[in-house]
Amino acid sequence: MPANTAAWINAAHARLEVGPAPYMAPGEDEIVIRNHAVAVNPLDWIIQVAGTLTYRWLKYPTVLGSDVAGEVAEVGQAVTRFRVGDRVIGHAVGTDKDSNRAAEGGFQLYTIVLERMACPIPDTMSFEDAAVLPLATSTASCALFQADQLGLRLPSPDPEPTGQTVLVWGGSTSVGSNAIQLAVAAGYQVVTTASPRNFDYVRSLGAAQAFDYNSPSVVPDIIGALQGRTLAGAIAIGSTSAPLCVRIAGACSGNRFVSIATPPVSFDVLADGNRGPFELPRLILRLVASNVALQFSSRLRGVRMKYIWGTTLKANQVSTAIYRDFLPGALASGRYVAAPKPSVFGHGVHDFQRAMDIQLKGVSAAKVVVSLP
Ligand SMILES: NC(=O)c1ccc[n+]([C@@H]2O[C@H](COP(=O)([O-])OP(=O)(O)OC[C@H]3O[C@@H](n4cnc5c(N)ncnc54)[C@H](OP(=O)(O)O)[C@@H]3O)[C@@H](O)[C@H]2O)c1
Repeated sequence: MPANTAAWINAAHARLEVGPAPYMAPGEDEIVIRNHAVAVNPLDWIIQVAGTLTYRWLKYPTVLGSDVAGEVAEVGQAVTRFRVGDRVIGHAVGTDKDSNRAAEGGFQLYTIVLERMACPIPDTMSFEDAAVLPLATSTASCALFQADQLGLRLPSPDPEPTGQTVLVWGGSTSVGSNAIQLAVAAGYQVVTTASPRNFDYVRSLGAAQAFDYNSPSVVPDIIGALQGRTLAGAIAIGSTSAPLCVRIAGACSGNRFVSIATPPVSFDVLADGNRGPFELPRLILRLVASNVALQFSSRLRGVRMKYIWGTTLKANQVSTAIYRDFLPGALASGRYVAAPKPSVFGHGVHDFQRAMDIQLKGVSAAKVVVSLP
C-alpha cells in the first residue's frame, strides 16, 4: 500500500495539520488519484471559518479540497474508462453529506474520486493548469445544464447558435470562466461582468460583451444591452450579484431565472483576523435579511431563482455529459481551456493552509494551486 499524507482539519475552525492518512481502495465506480496538483477554492476556507454554520454534518477529523489533478493509482471493479497511470482531473466530493469521508478530500497525496466526476487531461496540459477545472466546471455545469436550474442545451463540439443570451455575473471568477466557455460551447451568446482589467480575459473565453460590476450604471447598462434579445437565464457569482441579477432578469424577456452561486453575504468576516464577538450573530442576521429581501424582489419581478450546490451533477446525467462526453474532446482539441491560470503557492501537503489563507485574501482571474511532486 502506498504511504499517504494529508493536511487534516481536526475540528471545526481548526487550522490544517499535516499527518499520515490511510490509503483507501476505490469502490466499484471510483478511482484513486495520486495527486500532483490540487487547487484551493473559497469553499475550503468557508468551511474552516464558518465551522458548523455550514456543512454541519462534517465528521472531524477530515480532509478538505475539491480539485485534484494527477495520475490514476487504482481503479474500481466497474471502471473501464481509466487505467493505472492515466493523467486525469477529478472533482473530489468528500465534504458532501452523503460522502462525508476524509478519503474523498483533495488536500492529500491520494484521493478517491467518482469515475463519472473525472476526465482525462491532454499530455500537453500540466497538472497545475488542469487542477483549476473541476469544482468550477461542475458548479457552472449544475447552473447551466441541470433541469432544476437554467436547463440549457448541453455543450457540443460544433454547437448550432440558439439565438439566446446567458448573463454570467462574475465572468473572471473561476466559476465564471468556466460558465462562459460552457455556455458558448452550448450555442449561447454570453454577456458578463468583470473588472475592466479582465475584459480582454473574459472576451478571450468567448464572452460577447463585458461590463464593470463596480460601475454605478451596470444594471441599466446590462438591461439596455439585453433589450431585443432572449434571455436564457443568469448565473449570479460574487456576493453582490444575486439581487442585481434578479433586477436584470426581471427587466428581460425569455427565461427569467437566476442560478445563484454566492449568497448575498460574504463569510470572510468570520476569518480569525476579522472576527469580533458579535460577528457570527450579525452575519446570520444579514444572511436571513438578505435572503428575505431576495425572495421578495424575485417574486415582485416574476423571476425564479435557485441556489446552486456544485456537486449535485454527480447524481444526474450532467456529470457524464460533461466529464465523459464533452470535456475530454474539448480539452484535447484546445476548444476548452483551463482557466483561470494557476498561481502555484506551494509544493507540498504542508502548504495547503497557506494556500487557503491566500485564497481568502482574494484573487483576480487566478486560481491558487499547490503542486505535489
Ligand atoms: N454554490 C456552489 O456550489 C459554489 C461552488 C463554487 C464556488 N461558489 C462560490 O462562487 C463564487 C466564486 O468562486 P470562485 O472560486 O470562482 O471565485 P474566485 O475565482 O476566487 O473569485 C475571484 C474573482 O471574483 C471576482 N469578484 C469579486 N467580487 C465580485 C462581485 N461582486 N461580482 C462579480 N465578481 C466579483 C473578481 O473579479 P475581478 O478581479 O475581475 O474584479 C475575481 O476575479 C464564490 O462566492 C464561491 O464561494 C459556489
